Amino acid sequence: MRAYDLIQKKRDGAALSAGEIAWLVDGFVGGLVPDYQMAAFLMAVYFRGMTPEETAALTWAMVRSGETLDLGPLARDAVDKHSSGGVGDKTSLVLVPLVASAGVPVPKLSGRGLGHTGGTLDKLEAIPGFSTALSEAAFVEQIGRIGCAIAGQSAALVPADARLYALRDVTATVDSVPLIASSIMSKKLAVGSSAILLDVKCGRGAFMKTEADARILAEAMVAIGRAAGRRTAAVISAMDHPLGRAVGNALEVAEAIATLRGEGPQDLEGLCLALGGWMLMLGGRSASPEEGSEELLRRLRSGDALRKFEALIRAQGGDPRVVEDPERLPSAPCRLPVPAPASGVVAGIDAEAIGLAAMQLGAGRARKGEAVDPAVGVVIKRSAGVVVKAREHLATIHARSEEAGLAAARQVAAAFAIAESAPAEVPVIRGVIRW
Ligand code: URA
Repeated sequence: MRAYDLIQKKRDGAALSAGEIAWLVDGFVGGLVPDYQMAAFLMAVYFRGMTPEETAALTWAMVRSGETLDLGPLARDAVDKHSSGGVGDKTSLVLVPLVASAGVPVPKLSGRGLGHTGGTLDKLEAIPGFSTALSEAAFVEQIGRIGCAIAGQSAALVPADARLYALRDVTATVDSVPLIASSIMSKKLAVGSSAILLDVKCGRGAFMKTEADARILAEAMVAIGRAAGRRTAAVISAMDHPLGRAVGNALEVAEAIATLRGEGPQDLEGLCLALGGWMLMLGGRSASPEEGSEELLRRLRSGDALRKFEALIRAQGGDPRVVEDPERLPSAPCRLPVPAPASGVVAGIDAEAIGLAAMQLGAGRARKGEAVDPAVGVVIKRSAGVVVKAREHLATIHARSEEAGLAAARQVAAAFAIAESAPAEVPVIRGVIRW
């Protein structure tokens, strides 16, 4: 086989066989297929797309490029969860302990934030002492013992994805549905749980800007999960405004704790209960997602979910006292209000702009490998649909310095749209794709 022929075949719109795709991926990882040929192939996929069979073959070729996790007997009941990422998206911090508190094991491998979106590992590391670097044995042992674990992905898992993503990143081929779907699903299949719930975001703060595009991606991922024999569902949820009120690592941990206490913002609690309801159903613990959500609401009210989060923090070396006393989380020295420029109704809060403001404060990173500041960020005080008076505080900036805070305050003020009348309410959940 020659890479040249496979590039040409895809360029001309023909479908590749599973064997051809596996040969290309193996060759790329093994150094036989150079970056320039793989880049050309990725661009051909970008323009020509892939059939569901090709996408599944690409996913499996990527899974086989590295090690897979052996969850042992836990695999049968475990439910994995993935979010396509957004601003203020702390759902994993809430969902992992919440779902585990209802008896469904949750193995969660997470990533770090990049650009305007945050990452679960950065958020958890805001908790003093919390370690996200668990060996495979420690990860599996912890799930067996307390029902959940959240850790960074080892480089041995799906190495083809890291290499392909780095190439896509510099060749304008990231936003291709088969490439995104295979990238995400290869990591989920390598973990080995028998069920997967996907939260596919759409809107200004998300990868997929429109609901139609999010649906196409969700369908592609559910098809891969189904073909792999995993119970898979995808919830399409809105990411036009930040989720909840807090954007920034420690600030989001505090909001997750409040949510696990049953005192969180409505949009965040509602989304977590809906996603968690699906996870309980996929894990065979409830007959329907609605029944699952009701069970989880009871776990929030009883304090079980909060205690599970405390157990998770303790198990991973963090200071569990943050649960009772969130003041122990890192806090920024400067707090600045963002006043409303005029009276009216908050018609919109641009999630991407808020995410970029938080990133520039230091809560996120522009480039891979940069350190983040756990304490800084933005807290929204007036959500979409709320009536405000001129000079009333729309948000609070948590900054390292007055200068950084003032710059962020200007960005955050510009992210708020103030109108004369309230916008029509749109539901957070836009649809569900099921296996
Ligand atoms: N997240 C991933 O893991 N891969 C992509 O390609 C895009 C988002």
